[in-house]
Amino acid sequence: MAAAVAATALAGCGGSASGSDDGKPELSVSSAYMPQPVSASMAAGFLTITNKGGATDELTSVTSDDAGDITVHKTVGGAMEEVSTLTVPAHGRLVFRSGGNHLMFDGLKRRPEQGQTVPVQLHFAKSGVLKVEMPVKPATYNPATGH
Ligand code: CU
Repeated sequence: MAAAVAATALAGCGGSASGSDDGKPELSVSSAYMPQPVSASMAAGFLTITNKGGATDELTSVTSDDAGDITVHKTVGGAMEEVSTLTVPAHGRLVFRSGGNHLMFDGLKRRPEQGQTVPVQLHFAKSGVLKVEMPVKPATYNPATGH
């Protein structure tokens, strides 16, 4: 499942010139958002992690000063399943989106309101910690995919 998504993303991007396999991941985060949740007890988060480097990395955990616990879920056949790690492919992307991979926030200290941001720390096996300010969007927000 993850491999198929990665292959599609790579094909869609057209690929960059070869020869940049420097053996380490180069991660960046884009399109992060949280649909405004109905309560502080549970919320979802979405984002895209792009890897421009020549080595894979692994998302190993996600934390936030504003949440008691954040788990990583993937959706399999309409049901969500908690996973301990997700791979970010070399020269590829790991995409979290509605109906697919998502972050689940538990025990938020306050109910996030539209216009606010929620600080999130993404922990990777090789790249260490990436910090993201996740903007809170309307509950029905669902960005068009593609680039
Ligand atoms: Cu979930």
